[in-house]
Amino acid sequence: MEILRHAVLLVHLTGFAVLFGAWVVEAFGQRRFTRLMTWGMVLALVAGLALAAPWGISYELNYTKLGVKFAVLIVIGALLGIGTARQRKTGSVPPVMFWLVGILTFLNAALAVLWR
Ligand code: HEM
Repeated sequence: MEILRHAVLLVHLTGFAVLFGAWVVEAFGQRRFTRLMTWGMVLALVAGLALAAPWGISYELNYTKLGVKFAVLIVIGALLGIGTARQRKTGSVPPVMFWLVGILTFLNAALAVLWR
């Protein structure tokens, strides 16, 4: 069970890596939203929800932290959705939306690691 949980954590981290990696590439490039960001977010969400259930562990999960991380991810999803629609219409993403996606993704990783 524990090895399976670690495998799901690996998928979760891969989702984070894809989302944040794709964002960093764009931060140094065109500053556009790409499909990779959305795919990374979906991967992090699905694996994160699986990890939010208490299986394969012998300690208590911090549900306050998980709730905050979930709320932050919903905001990231809304920004990616609205920003991608704007991008289709006008050809660019409002800068505040673009930067918020990177900042909030980094914030969620920081919450995961620093809030015990
Ligand atoms: C962009 C969104 C997210 C990012 C960047 C992110 C990042 C991370 C990182 C870096 C870890 C590893 C921390 C460690 O093992 O020390 C982690 C673990 C975890 N994440 Fe996320 N996460 C995100 C969204 C979510 C969501 C939405 C949930 C579920 C509500 C979630 C639930 C978890 C759980 C349960 C763990 C394992 C913690 C444990 O077992 O102690 N994550 N996350």
